[in-house]
Amino acid sequence: MKKFPRGLPLAALTASTCLLAALLTTGCGPSAETPRPPKAGAVKIGFLVKQPDEPWFQLEWKFAEKAAQAMPFSLVKIGATDGEKALTAIDNLAAGGAQGLVICTPDTKLGPAIVAKAKAAKLKLISVDDRFVGADGQPMTGVHYLGISARKIGESVGQTLASEMKRRGWTAADTALCAITFDELATAKERTDGASTVLTAAGLPKERIFRAPMRTADIPGAFDAANNLLTQQPDVKHWLVCGSNDNAVLGAVRALEGRGVAVENAVAIGINGTDCIVELEKTKATSFYGSMLLSAKEHGYKTSEMLYRWIKDGVEPPLETRTIGTLITRENFRQVLKEQGVRD
Ligand code: GLA
Repeated sequence: MKKFPRGLPLAALTASTCLLAALLTTGCGPSAETPRPPKAGAVKIGFLVKQPDEPWFQLEWKFAEKAAQAMPFSLVKIGATDGEKALTAIDNLAAGGAQGLVICTPDTKLGPAIVAKAKAAKLKLISVDDRFVGADGQPMTGVHYLGISARKIGESVGQTLASEMKRRGWTAADTALCAITFDELATAKERTDGASTVLTAAGLPKERIFRAPMRTADIPGAFDAANNLLTQQPDVKHWLVCGSNDNAVLGAVRALEGRGVAVENAVAIGINGTDCIVELEKTKATSFYGSMLLSAKEHGYKTSEMLYRWIKDGVEPPLETRTIGTLITRENFRQVLKEQGVRD
């Protein structure tokens, strides 16, 4: 709570809070506005992400900034790690004169509340990455959304794991899958379900598919989940690893190392391709084999551009846009990241 001088009337307090909010634009987490002289009728857009520390979300912002410079419009980057911060940020954006918002919500169940707030403040809204879920538990298909083809990308992870298993001559009897799951989030569940289904179809028996649920969707959460599983299954010789994103898989790789599983006895594949660059750059290979690189450009630049056109020219974007993934490994990641504008 900000401190104000005693005895200030409520109206003055509210006014000063709004003014402050308008000047600062938001007081929630890391936030920065692209410097630009204010112009009458200028477009101002907020870009809110749930995990501002993840390279994936930093890259979305980087590409949103590129769109802001190209269009041009003024961009407010907001990191909101919980529901309260996200909702306050929407109020502040509205008070600061924004006309629209791209959001990867910290909690998909906030969907109805976010839609109501945006509507009341006449903010146009595009959800990115994590689709809103309504009170009935179903995806809110009436809200504009850009996200990955999660099941397909998960299936590609499964296919790559299956072919690596074959190439290495591992048998179904001495191999198992460690799936680091986060079923609370639909896009995460679709990814690990996709990988597991493909591996079952490729001949890995159902009882060799082990799900390790994360309590928190980060590296420590994944590490703990994997560690518990590895303790329960000490006899597995070869491990295949999949997860909802790079951090989920990296946590599992660290747990495997911690338990002394040799690099050549595990093969792990992430999703994002942006949060594993340091891992792939290591001179000595780890069991992190590769990742499905997603398009941070589509998620950051395209969403911002669609929102800008909608605000400025009244061109409504499609209700649903899906993006694909490309496998990167230690062999090709430098080249692919360069081609995609992720790395110079
Ligand atoms: C979710 C994940 C992110 C990233 C995006 C891609 O939000 O938490 O790490 O994979 O999906 O859409």
